[in-house]
Parts: sequence; C-alpha cells; structure tokens
Amino acid sequence: MAVKPDHTGTTPRRAGLAALPTPLHEAPRLAEALGMRGRLLLKRDDLTGFAVAGNKARQLEMLIAGMCSSGADVLVTGGTPGSNFCQAAAAAAAWAGLRCVLVYAGSPSPVRHPNQAAAVHWGAGVRWTHDADRSSVDAVMEKVAAELIREGRTPFVVPRGGATPLGSAGFHLAAAELDAQLDGPATVVVGTGSGGTLAGLVAGAVALGRRLRMCGASVSRPPEETARRVLELSRGCARLMGTELPRETDVTLDDARGPGHGRPSEEGERAAWLALRTSGIVVDPVYSAKALGAVTRILGDRRSDPDHTTVFWHTGGLLDAVAGWSHDDQ
Ligand SMILES: Cc1ncc(COP(=O)(O)O)c(C=O)c1O
Repeated sequence: MAVKPDHTGTTPRRAGLAALPTPLHEAPRLAEALGMRGRLLLKRDDLTGFAVAGNKARQLEMLIAGMCSSGADVLVTGGTPGSNFCQAAAAAAAWAGLRCVLVYAGSPSPVRHPNQAAAVHWGAGVRWTHDADRSSVDAVMEKVAAELIREGRTPFVVPRGGATPLGSAGFHLAAAELDAQLDGPATVVVGTGSGGTLAGLVAGAVALGRRLRMCGASVSRPPEETARRVLELSRGCARLMGTELPRETDVTLDDARGPGHGRPSEEGERAAWLALRTSGIVVDPVYSAKALGAVTRILGDRRSDPDHTTVFWHTGGLLDAVAGWSHDDQ
C-alpha cells in the first residue's frame, strides 16, 4: 500500500536536516535602495545548511520523519526538471538511506537543469511524463507508486512542492523561530508556489496571536487560486499542530508572476541586482527575486513608516540562480 503524507495522529517531529535557527540579518542598504524607510531583515533560509535545499529542508525534515515512522521505503515525488523540491527530496532520501523516484513533467533534454543534475547525482531514479504540463506529474506519480507496490515496495507519495499539512508543519515551527528572533510585530514576505511554505507560516503566525503578518508573492498561479490552496493547507497544518484555525483574512497574496512562471520579471531582476550589489545576497529569478521585487508593493504606505519592520524570507533557489546566469551566457 502507498503511504500518504497525511496526519498520522502523532505530534509531527523533525528529522534534523536543517541547521536551525537560520540567521536573521539586517539589510539597511537594500532597504534604502528599495525606497523603504523602516527596518528590513532577511530570514536566511537560503542557509538551512542541507544540500542545496533552501526552505525545502524545513518541509522535508517533517516529511522524512513521517516517512521513516510509517515504514515506507521509497519516496515518490515530482515536478519540473528545475524543481528545487525534487532536488532537495532526492538529497533527503539519500540522507535517510531511502530510495527516491522523481517524476518529471516533459521529456529528457540534452541540457540538464542543475537541479535535475543534482537530484540524479544524489541517486534519484527519474521517470518522464512526456507532457510539458506540470500537472501531468500527478497521475504518473500514482502509476509509479502502483508499480512499486507490485514489486513489494512501500512508496511514500509526496505532492509537488511538498505541499501537505505535514510538510507545512516545518514552517509552523519556523514562524515561532522567527518570532523569537524579533522584538515586535512585522510584515513577512515570502515567495509562494505550491503554497506549503506560506501555509505553515500563516498557521504559525495565527498560533502566535497574529503579531506577524504573513504575505505571499504568488509566482506560479493566480493569487486567488493560491490563496484558496494556502488557506486549506494552513488549516490542515493547524489541525495537525493543535492550534487555532486560520481565517480567510489571515492569507495575503500578491500577484508576482510577471510574464509567467519560470520567466524572470523586470521588477524581480531589478530587485535581484540591488540585493547582490548592496548586500551580497543571491536571489533566484523564479521565486525569491520576484518576491523581493514585490516587497514594496505589499507594504504600500508602510514603506514610508520608519517604525515598521519588514522581514524578507529568503527561500534559497541557488541552483535556479546559477541556471539563470548560465542561460544568459548562451
Ligand atoms: C526557492 C524557492 N522559494 C520559494 C518556493 C515556494 O515554496 P512553496 O512551493 O512551498 O510555496 C519554492 C518552491 O519550490 C522554492 O523552490
């Protein structure tokens, strides 16, 4: 039987992949360059210290712990060949001594994305859907799981991006980690794709009494659709953690898609350049650059408030940044 990464009735625990707490850095020159009068802090989840996992280490350490206690022996997940989550999942499975099968949307290309190359390097097996649509992955993951069961294995099927209440529990804990590093309320901005990261942060912020306002910059789906996904996931996460259920008004999403998912936006590219030149910070074009570019729009009038604290949650994506640079050279 395939194991689903749902609530198992026990308190979620960490497998201990990430080096926590991640640092919280002041970025006064970046704040000034972005035209902000208040304080800007960077939550450095690009420094989670496990493989090149960035924020995904937090979800994976919950998922891997759940998987180990369920008795499953093959991690099955999927996404695009550029997926940071797939790369990080391959590394996490290797760390736990488990097999990993990745289902990639599309067909093999002679030029491998650095995330795909890293995933294969970490020992993941790869299956292709031969359909460029990201959602084609979902049915093929189920097919792969059925094949594994016939071979006598016990697959653990994780949806794209690790977006499950159990994965989000890693970010419920992360909200408390940030709160302990701060001395007051703050607006927090984070890049949002499948929604698992924001969902956990929202559930965590609600549990803390709403001192932190969690805002997502939606990079892959229309913000209304992302908001629905995030609300559902954050409620599932809150149930799992035994904390207050988030309300619709707890989820804020900005439209940061620009020309489309995976295609750099002008405001993101400008923000990436400013981050590099003022603070030595590398952001990737797919998630964190777009989220950084959205910060001042999300702040609105609070941008000119000298007493306001903003936290930009840096989610990593280093190999996507490298892929972007090498692409420019071709
Ligand atoms: C670098 C980076 N930032 C942000 C995100 C968004 O996280 P989520 O999919 O949990 O919304 C991802 C997701 O893959 C990511 O790789």
